[in-house]
Amino acid sequence: MKKINIAIDGPSAAGKSTISKKVASELGYVHLDTGAMYRTCAYKALQLGLDLEDEEKICNALAGTKIELTPDGKVFLDGEDVSLDIRKDEISKAASLVSKLKRVREDLVARQQKIAENKGIIMDGRDIGTVVLKDAELKIYLTASAKARADRRYKQNQENGILDATYEEILADIEQRDYQDMHRENSPF
Ligand code: DC
Repeated sequence: MKKINIAIDGPSAAGKSTISKKVASELGYVHLDTGAMYRTCAYKALQLGLDLEDEEKICNALAGTKIELTPDGKVFLDGEDVSLDIRKDEISKAASLVSKLKRVREDLVARQQKIAENKGIIMDGRDIGTVVLKDAELKIYLTASAKARADRRYKQNQENGILDATYEEILADIEQRDYQDMHRENSPF
């Protein structure tokens, strides 16, 4: 069967990655979690001690950085497995900040478009249907209330041994990041 590209957009913790993984495994497609790419960029910026608003320095660091997402959902930063580290609360906040930077978006969008060139991709994020894969044959918007999303994230964190935030903190964070992602200047969600 002819392969298509599928775009899934929606706010944090709505279940985009969970659904994308299932669909990818059913159809033999490649799943690309673009949020993980912004998270990995934020992780690197923090590792280097960079100011999260310093577009120039973050972009220069990103330019020489290898970000790999494996079919089993692992994320590697220059060969180092950062799959769990990038899910921490501190990184969620930092990712929302670096994702505001125009040149960071340009760099990551170009990587995402390259990966999707050969079709058969299911990509999730915030700007997939509108910017990254404008021509995607199928575009889905997946959302849920902030409370339902905080509940999912809290349970996921418990399962993964990430115990750095209470349910109330996660809910407050989700609401704050929703606001930040929706009101940024570049590719507002
Ligand atoms: O989906 P997530 O929580 O893993 O995304 C992390 C951050 O990256 C979030 O603040 C939104 C941002 N993001 C984005 O701006 N564009 C995307 N395509 C994916 C994520």
